[in-house]
Amino acid sequence: MIRVESLTKTFGNKRAVDGISFCVERGEVLGFLGPNGAGKSTTMRMITGFLPPTSGKVTVGGFDITEKPLPAKKLMGYLPENAPAYTDMTVHGFLDFAAEIRGLRGDAKKSAINRVVELCFLASVLHQNVDTLSKGYRHRTCFAQSIIHDPEVLVLDEPTDGLDPNQKHEIRQLIRRMGEKKAIIFSTHILEEVDAVCSRALIIDRGNIVANGTPEELRQKSEWAGAVTLCIQGVTVAAIQEKFNMLRSAKKISTTTNGSHVTVTVFPRTAGDGDLTREVIAATTGWPVERLRTEEGRLDDVFRSITMPDTAGKEVK
Ligand SMILES: Nc1ncnc2c1ncn2[C@@H]1O[C@H](COP(=O)(O)OP(=O)(O)OP(=O)(O)O)[C@@H](O)[C@H]1O
Ligand SMILES: [Mg+2]
Repeated sequence: MIRVESLTKTFGNKRAVDGISFCVERGEVLGFLGPNGAGKSTTMRMITGFLPPTSGKVTVGGFDITEKPLPAKKLMGYLPENAPAYTDMTVHGFLDFAAEIRGLRGDAKKSAINRVVELCFLASVLHQNVDTLSKGYRHRTCFAQSIIHDPEVLVLDEPTDGLDPNQKHEIRQLIRRMGEKKAIIFSTHILEEVDAVCSRALIIDRGNIVANGTPEELRQKSEWAGAVTLCIQGVTVAAIQEKFNMLRSAKKISTTTNGSHVTVTVFPRTAGDGDLTREVIAATTGWPVERLRTEEGRLDDVFRSITMPDTAGKEVK
């Protein structure tokens, strides 16, 4: 439904998006991750036709966003960054306006408004002016606008930004449900959201895609994937280190002590290596092991290891 090919955007001598390509199919929720300034919003603005690309191509439902913007935009809902809205309208007025420009009239319009008011929990602020709304309600109003025409494609720039924990949960559930039938791309800085909502995640750094896979595949890239953590009582740290350092699949060992308890994490030489757990269990035969668990891998660790701290766009050479 969304096809992005060699998409590039430069601002002056800054290359914000550097020739990226990816697809999003119906039934997919793609999480778009990356540090501040990585190029997420710029990519989304180009996908939705708000910003012309410097080069490259975007098609939505088979329609080129530059050559056939109208049919492409009809298929799409867009929640821009910082949830802009017409502040002198009431929430109902704004949604009515959004429905009208999407071509909805009469009963169809009424039921579309009722549907999004319910989905986005807006009933209590329906007649309040948008400029007097709290940040979370303003965000939800703008989210409601993006789904008013029940589009097949949704582009959501940080849809849970500024929401309270209950609302974050509701909106994630909603995105996941909608993702069963639609093609959705959404950006986020909350890594737990990737697990909760996405079928696939894409990490972008300085305008380039640096990782693309299911949350499970990404976690497997973490040095924590397959690490074994166990708690042992009454054995010295030196004895523990000596034994675990000899394991074939172990790369490094970290220990913390609390009285006579030692908590040890043994990291695998190869991320995700299942042999390490067996080797650790065999090596501790006869030792008083209290707890032992194999780690799944951590998305924040993957994110940190593959993205650089300073990502304010790449200079064009
Ligand atoms: N209109 C513009 N003019 C000049 N530079 C711009 C413009 N829009 C974006 N940029 C630059 O492009 C780069 C990418 O910005 P973008 O907003 O896409 O990042 P982002 O990944 O969405 O970051 P964040 O997580 O902070 O929202 C940044 O260096 C930004 O300063
Ligand atoms: Mg952004």
